[in-house]
Amino acid sequence: MGVSRVLLIVGGGIAAYKASELIRLFRKGGHEVTPVLTAGGAHFVTPMTLAALAESPVYTSLWDLKDESEMGHIQLSRAADIVLVCPATADLLAKMAAGVADDLATTLLLATDKPVIVAPAMNVRMWLHPATQRNLARLKADGITVIEPDDGAMACGEFGPGRLAEPTEIARFIEQSFPLVSGEIATPLLSGPLAGTHILVTAGPTHEPIDPVRVIANRSSGKQGFAIAAAAAEAGARVTLIAGPVALPTPGGVARIDVETAEQMAAAVEAALPADVAILVAAVADWKVASSPVKLKKGDGPPTLSFAPNPDILATLAKSPERPRLLIGFAAETNDLVANATAKRAAKGADWIVANDVSGDVMGGNHNEVHLITTTGDEAWEAGTKQAVARRLIARIIEALNAKTQLA
Ligand code: CTP
Repeated sequence: MGVSRVLLIVGGGIAAYKASELIRLFRKGGHEVTPVLTAGGAHFVTPMTLAALAESPVYTSLWDLKDESEMGHIQLSRAADIVLVCPATADLLAKMAAGVADDLATTLLLATDKPVIVAPAMNVRMWLHPATQRNLARLKADGITVIEPDDGAMACGEFGPGRLAEPTEIARFIEQSFPLVSGEIATPLLSGPLAGTHILVTAGPTHEPIDPVRVIANRSSGKQGFAIAAAAAEAGARVTLIAGPVALPTPGGVARIDVETAEQMAAAVEAALPADVAILVAAVADWKVASSPVKLKKGDGPPTLSFAPNPDILATLAKSPERPRLLIGFAAETNDLVANATAKRAAKGADWIVANDVSGDVMGGNHNEVHLITTTGDEAWEAGTKQAVARRLIARIIEALNAKTQLA
């Protein structure tokens, strides 16, 4: 088993402290990290901290490389398997886009022949500025991978995109995207029983437009699906969460795609394949409306809505050549729970159905009581929080993946 070598360029910015956490994650995975600290970065984190965590010398200046014969800048830029810039400031991105090489970091970035990944972090206005966006487009066109920053409250008190992606997300992304950089990756960066698997989750309702201002919706809050996505990420999986319109924060380490309609959800699911496991929790509208391009006016009298069927995402996925190894649906029922859910499992071609009685306050509430319907029958799980149901489902998935033969 080989070890991946990461050249980590730490730019200046309040997020520089998160580079220490990233080094810790890489080291835990058995990888080698060589830190390069820019002059700006050195205002936020010391070379000593990075050296101690990386168990490697830290390079700060071109003129440090005193013994060019031992480790010149060209060699330093190529000894790594990947070059990661984290945090990447607006200034560093601009210099990279322009091909400037006026310090060690920018010189290495120009000299390297290895994949370069940048994880930007900056104030929201700086991030949204056309100059930064132009530089990012330039860098992407040059083949550089950009790990988009998160949305949220910033150290400067403003709110919006620009906050450095979480170190666990960056580590997860790199593990998934660059496993073959050196031919193989040492050990998964993120440990856990689901490390190395891709889990797809749909959650929330869909909204089907009637006209530009009105929709047909349902009472799904997305809480159960989000709890499942969070539990899967905690178990080390790479998680893609396709969410209908909900007001919930994205769980840590989860890649979220927001959609509105059933058709958009179906397209997002298809685009996210392949997946090892799909858990379709969303309450997808069965029907779409022939929507009016202009607002319906009250004066025109009560509208007559005409409906057309939506794609059945679960049934389509069951028949797809890319069918996940384990395909799990939910069944929302108000009567004859187990009988209806058992019939639904067979009709839709799912491996399992998690059946919940939605006649009470399950939709929108924090608790759930479910039955798990498998090929071998029906298990009644005791009532609990949606988090507890999620963790139990993930534990069952881990068992099933470990004993694939038990699957139908
Ligand atoms: N589902 C789907 N696409 C649809 C409708 C449902 O993928 N267009 C999935 C849901 O995400 C869930 C399962 O199918 O995993 C069952 O959803 P449910 O609403 O209970 O069933 P329906 O197929 O809509 O059947 P009915 O409304 O008759 O109960």
